[in-house]
Amino acid sequence: MVVLDGVNKRFGALHVLRDIDLTVARGEVVAVIGPSGSGKSTLCRTINRLETIDSGAITVDGRPLPEEGRELARLRAEVGMVFQSFNLFAHKTVLENVTLGQIKVRRTPREKAERTARALLDRVGVGGQADKYPAQLSGGQQQRVAIARALAMEPKVMLFDEPTSALDPEMVNEVLEVMRQLARDGMTMIVVTHEMGFARSAAHRVVFMADGRIVEQAPPARFFGSPRSERAKDFLSKVLHH
Ligand SMILES: Nc1ncnc2c1ncn2[C@@H]1O[C@H](COP(=O)(O)OP(=O)(O)OP(=O)(O)O)[C@@H](O)[C@H]1O
Ligand SMILES: [Mg+2]
Repeated sequence: MVVLDGVNKRFGALHVLRDIDLTVARGEVVAVIGPSGSGKSTLCRTINRLETIDSGAITVDGRPLPEEGRELARLRAEVGMVFQSFNLFAHKTVLENVTLGQIKVRRTPREKAERTARALLDRVGVGGQADKYPAQLSGGQQQRVAIARALAMEPKVMLFDEPTSALDPEMVNEVLEVMRQLARDGMTMIVVTHEMGFARSAAHRVVFMADGRIVEQAPPARFFGSPRSERAKDFLSKVLHH
């Protein structure tokens, strides 16, 4: 579903992604972990072309990423993204947040868009909040609305960049549970996360990045049970025993 082939990305002198090869199959859930600054967010952002790349190739569902225009808007709809910070439109209601893209990009009639939105809001457990504004919701509720908004575009793949790291601890689980359900439903997912429990239990594969490279990748049991690289051992000793 998603293929990165020899991808390189530089910010000036900083070489942030180095020869990244990554293939994510349909229905696969990949957890991307690694130290701060290793390029995890940049990797995500290249996949829906929020960042351009310097060399290599990226395809989604067999097609190269479009450069611009309507094709790019369609790609952004096909590749749903949920960020760490809640990026809902503050001056629009929850329902409007979830219908907007459907109406503007997908050209869905308003009535149908609202039916879809209400069903999705129910699915992520915030069906009762449709007429509120984002600021009236908890962080966990807002993040679930952000997931519903991305799902409303019927994405082929969902990218999550630390979706729970700005949440109060008691709200982390409600968001992870929605993500687990999505994984069980067969969504293709790339999840940058510090939640090792989620990576262990919900991911099919862990990709470990350091210094812009994929240093190691393996099924979670193998990765957490017997990491091979020194970098991964070091990283795990810090995150699992602090
Ligand atoms: N727009 C930008 N301009 C210049 N440098 C950038 C830009 N975005 C990211 N970087 C740099 O690229 C490197 C990789 O950043 P990135 O955000 O991808 O790391 P990360 O693995 O997501 O880290 P974290 O775990 O802290 O979120 C860092 O050194 C960062 O400072
Ligand atoms: Mg990041």
